[in-house]
Amino acid sequence: MTTTERRGETELSAGFEEIVAADQRVEPRDWMPDAYRATLVRQIAQHAHSEIIGMQPEGNWILRAPSLRRKAILLAKVQDEAGHGLYLYAAAETLGVDREELTEKLIESRQKYSSIFNYPTLTYADIGVIGWLVDGAAICNQVPLCRCSYGPYARAMIRICKEESFHQRQGYELLMTMMRGTDAQKAMVQEATNRWWWPSLMMFGPPDADSPNTRQSMAWGIKRHTNDELRQRFVDMTVPQAEALGVTLPDPELRWNAERDAHDYGEPDWVEFKSVISGGGPCNTQRLARRRRAHESGAWVREAAAAYAAKQEVHP
Ligand SMILES: [Fe+2]
Ligand SMILES: [Fe+2]
Repeated sequence: MTTTERRGETELSAGFEEIVAADQRVEPRDWMPDAYRATLVRQIAQHAHSEIIGMQPEGNWILRAPSLRRKAILLAKVQDEAGHGLYLYAAAETLGVDREELTEKLIESRQKYSSIFNYPTLTYADIGVIGWLVDGAAICNQVPLCRCSYGPYARAMIRICKEESFHQRQGYELLMTMMRGTDAQKAMVQEATNRWWWPSLMMFGPPDADSPNTRQSMAWGIKRHTNDELRQRFVDMTVPQAEALGVTLPDPELRWNAERDAHDYGEPDWVEFKSVISGGGPCNTQRLARRRRAHESGAWVREAAAAYAAKQEVHP
């Protein structure tokens, strides 16, 4: 690098730091450090993959939803998740990677998605509990991302969060209905809550001490709170909701701590988390196989769309 190039780089870097410090947005045309771009690509891709893979556990119940109303709600919700995936792949494209490349990385297991979607949906109550806890945790994680320093990601999150709040409510309303039902229905809700509680806490990622990238992400204004802060916020938000619903959260250590003005809670099983995130969860193989199959069987649609676009270019 020549001295002039180095001076140019220093100026550009100062410009970037200024934008971040002033809490303004970095846009695709702006200069940004390579590591900032790489971090965003990794995070947005992981997020997009989670939305798309997340359609599977719930899609599993569309044909078995107990009424037309429940079916319509679930269909709309699963369709929203596809839309979230699309906004996010589009946000990633502004950083210079394309969707095809990201999809390849997902189906070849070279990029991750949220650990939560590797658990099975065993009963219909799981649909309610996913809306309540999984979409609830997603909201806690995502609301601060609406202020992320990267403009296209922040703007995508605003719309996504509005839809997530509908997802959370539909889940909670479904559970409220079941809790007014028979003893068997109430037991189903409790059993689903028992299975999903700990995996939901794991959605915030490893404990802060074990999350080496958090500090840099916060300095860049990508992340606004640490994993443990968000997890605490989720626990505090969920406890009164569980009480109103009439279910017990499966944690004997869960109690209000007046000194901290927050709930104390038990430690999630981090060994399980690491195993699920690295491919050893109950449904990892199935989820990826299904995604791969869907991608392959959609090949003709992509080919047809590309052929049509090429034709339009020749004969506009
Ligand atoms: Fe979503
Ligand atoms: Fe959602």
